[in-house]
Amino acid sequence: MTPVLPGPSETLDPQDWDELRAQGHRMLDDMIDYVATVRERPVWRPIPDEVRARFRAELPRQPSDLGEIYQEFSEFIAPYATGNIHPGFMGWVHGGGTAVGMLAEMLAAGLNANLGGRDHIPIEVERQIVEWTRAMFGFPREASGVFVTGTSMANLMAVLVARTVALGEIVRQHGVGGEGALLTAYTSTAAHGCISKAMDLAGFGSDALRSMQVDSAHRVDVAAMRAQIARDREVGLTPFLVIGSAGTVDIGAIDDLKALSAMCREEKLWFHVDGAYGALGVLTPALAPRLAGLESADSIALDFHKWGQVPYDAGFLIVRDGERHREAFSAPAVYLRRETRGLAAGSLWPCDLGPDLSRGFRALKTWFTLKAYGTDRLGAMIERTCALARYMEARILAEPRLELLAPVQLNIVCFRYRAADADDADQMNGEIVIDLQESGISAPSTTTLDGQLAIRAAIINHRTDVADVDALVAAVLDFGARRSSDGRDS
Ligand SMILES: Cc1ncc(COP(=O)(O)O)c(C=O)c1O
Repeated sequence: MTPVLPGPSETLDPQDWDELRAQGHRMLDDMIDYVATVRERPVWRPIPDEVRARFRAELPRQPSDLGEIYQEFSEFIAPYATGNIHPGFMGWVHGGGTAVGMLAEMLAAGLNANLGGRDHIPIEVERQIVEWTRAMFGFPREASGVFVTGTSMANLMAVLVARTVALGEIVRQHGVGGEGALLTAYTSTAAHGCISKAMDLAGFGSDALRSMQVDSAHRVDVAAMRAQIARDREVGLTPFLVIGSAGTVDIGAIDDLKALSAMCREEKLWFHVDGAYGALGVLTPALAPRLAGLESADSIALDFHKWGQVPYDAGFLIVRDGERHREAFSAPAVYLRRETRGLAAGSLWPCDLGPDLSRGFRALKTWFTLKAYGTDRLGAMIERTCALARYMEARILAEPRLELLAPVQLNIVCFRYRAADADDADQMNGEIVIDLQESGISAPSTTTLDGQLAIRAAIINHRTDVADVDALVAAVLDFGARRSSDGRDS
């Protein structure tokens, strides 16, 4: 039978590479300008209805011109991004990214490498980052690590590793079952919500997580935790995991990691640290001593996309005993057979260390960032964000119309405008935050501390400077005065 030739080529490569190159250079130039001139634009701007409506379009069946698509991007996407590259962005915990990281992302997309496994240099780059991270935290040679989306995923994976250690590998076939129903984990009330979610997703239910009280600086009460563990054992439960925080999301508290670690050794519990942003504090001598105990954790979750300024996303899990890590996730499959030569060589693969098989090249932008700046400079930048937070604290303490709501421990400042009527304070400060965001001057977020709504400024972005702190304080005073009953008439 004569083979029927397929129709004409349907490759998605351009017909004219020069045209693509010219368009690509325009995009690159524009994006470098976009980052370089970020201060000239508002931090964030509300999305007009007509712009939002553009993204409710029908599925495109026909091709469009790349230049026109890019025009749409320039007019309707770029101006309405989150704003976290802007130095005035201080909401939640958002890194600012760098132009170096942006370029590395482009290179990674060009390689289009799949880092699930196989034998290619991108995997070695990821292994290099594992090795560097191991060195940063003083973990032993047998440690393993893997890039993930973010700390929410890394925390979930740590819970799964601890689960497999507690119940044995058989749990992966049988499920957590009756024995698993007895497992209990321990953290603090100040821990991030993704930890409770991780307990839920891992099949234990969030009720199996004991959230222990914290002191006035939001550090977990280790004695209370120990007592709870003893009580739980007495009633037949099986404590298996403690999760400490290296930088809580609300106010940047660092638990006594040394004490937690010692307790976990005695009690034979897995010690995981949520170091989403705070763990990279080890890069500065000013913070490293406060993170003592991190080096003896069983696992650490952290994000290079926060204080590390790597563009989103670049979460990471490092596990002290790589074998325990592998046991929780590796799942042989005939189509993923390992060889000693060829492209299928080089086992252990990253897919053996987490739930993902297809994975992007997050390691490249992290490798570029670590090499381009070096850890000393990154550490100095981290320390500067803390110095700016202390400066903001001093400004707030010196201003009678403002009230500091929590001690500044790291890079997060929680405060509020004093309302004439205390009952109105929550609503008023919530409105002030929205006013600030809509003004484009500054973008803090809110949290609630001891039942009081706080304006929360987390200085993560390496671009943030004194002028940005001053602008936030001035704008809070301005909007506060306008909203307070005294100022309303003026
Ligand atoms: C302390 C802490 N843990 C976990 C997370 C979740 O990290 P991610 O957003 O990367 O999933 C955050 C995010 O801000 C955090 O601050």
